[in-house]
Formats: sequence, structure tokens, C-alpha cells
Amino acid sequence: MRLDKFLCDMGEGTRSQVKQKIRKGAVTVDGLAVRQPEYQVHPKNCICLEGRPVSYVKLEYYMLNKPAGVVSATRDPKEPTVLDLILDKRRKDLFPVGRLDKDTEGLLLITNDGALSHSLLSPRKHVDKTYYAKVEGLVTEEHVRLFAQGVDLGEEKPALPAVLEIQEAGETSLVLVTLREGRYHQVKRMFQALGCEVRYLKRLSMGSLRLDESLKPGEYRKLTEEELENLKTGES
Ligand code: URA
Repeated sequence: MRLDKFLCDMGEGTRSQVKQKIRKGAVTVDGLAVRQPEYQVHPKNCICLEGRPVSYVKLEYYMLNKPAGVVSATRDPKEPTVLDLILDKRRKDLFPVGRLDKDTEGLLLITNDGALSHSLLSPRKHVDKTYYAKVEGLVTEEHVRLFAQGVDLGEEKPALPAVLEIQEAGETSLVLVTLREGRYHQVKRMFQALGCEVRYLKRLSMGSLRLDESLKPGEYRKLTEEELENLKTGES
């Protein structure tokens, strides 16, 4: 890989910024100053920028507790995005695995691992996603039955069977919903189809990955080795 691309990929500036630094002699490869941006490097080379080692990171994995008010996108002309919250990211090619609505909180995996993302989102893999919701309206055993049957969302096919657990039933009901697919606004639309409105929604888990409840909205951390391994092997 070219030296300028290496530094750029590692978040050390734009291509033209890192080229300038290289030409100024601020970069060493294995102890020797290299002034050619096109110089070929290998992740095993010891590369320093202004005396500071820059190690190569290929894949990154962050668990974010998404707050309300940010969009699940890599960039947006007007709104803050979930990627703006990951302050110490190394890679420039991170993206959120799936989308949560702007007003939805909770678990969002941010990575640049396209294969893992594909396996978690593929409709054929049926990865469970569990949400906590506050719902306006009385949620009853009849709703539980209808969710289990597959709610008609007015699309070609009804929603796949989903598990609805009632934690508290009342004017506002507190529930857990587990889905095996991820259609647009799915939880909100399933409740709307049955005459209820979701007032608050938070994702708690995706496959084996559970939201670390010590993360406040807007906070994030790297996945542990074990979390990553379980996600990759599909173990819970
Ligand atoms: N279902 C919704 O309605 N919104 C989300 O953000 C996620 C699932």
C-alpha cells in the first residue's frame, strides 16, 4: 500500500494533508525519513508520524448506545450522525450495521467489517433483534397472539412472527419485542397496525450482542474479543 494511503486510512488527515507531511519529512518508515507519498509500505513496517508510531488497524468494532437525535448514516448534510460520536476511530470507512430511526435509542454496531454486517442483516439469516418500547395504549394478550401470528403491514407479505412480552400493561404499556427481520419503522408500524403508538423505542440486542447498560446514550466502547467471536459464530 502507498504510504499516503496508509496514513490517510488510519485517520491522519486527508490525502493532500498527509502528502504534505510526508514531503516535509515528518514521516519515517523503519527509522528512515521517507519523502515519497507513493512509497510502498506493509503493515509490518514501523511507521512514525512526527515521532509517533502509527499502527495499522484493519477492522474496528464499536458498540454505541445511540442517543435520540442522531441519524444512522455515515454522513448527513444537516444532522449529526452516529459516526460523529465515535471520537477515537482509526478507520475512515466505518458504517452503522443497519439503521435505527432518529428518535430510537440503543444498541448500534459500528464497524468496517462488511462480511459481518452482511451476515447480521441478511434477511435469510433471521438474526433476532430485541427492543424495549413504551407504547401508548393497552397492550394485551391479543396483541401477543397477533405478533406471534405475523402482523399485516399492508405490504406484499405480513411481518414474520415476532415475540411480544408485556412488562406492564396500562394506558402506557411497557413491552419487549423480538423481531427476526428489519423492515422500515417495523416496530412502530406493527403497533400502529394494531391501534397503538410507540412513544419510546430502544434496541437492547442484536443476535448475541447485548447493549452494555453502563453506556449512557451517546457513549460507546470497543467490542470485547468474546462479543466479536460470538457474533461471528452466531452463538448467544
Ligand atoms: N423499528 C422501528 O420502528 N424503529 C427503529 O428504529 C427500529 C425498529
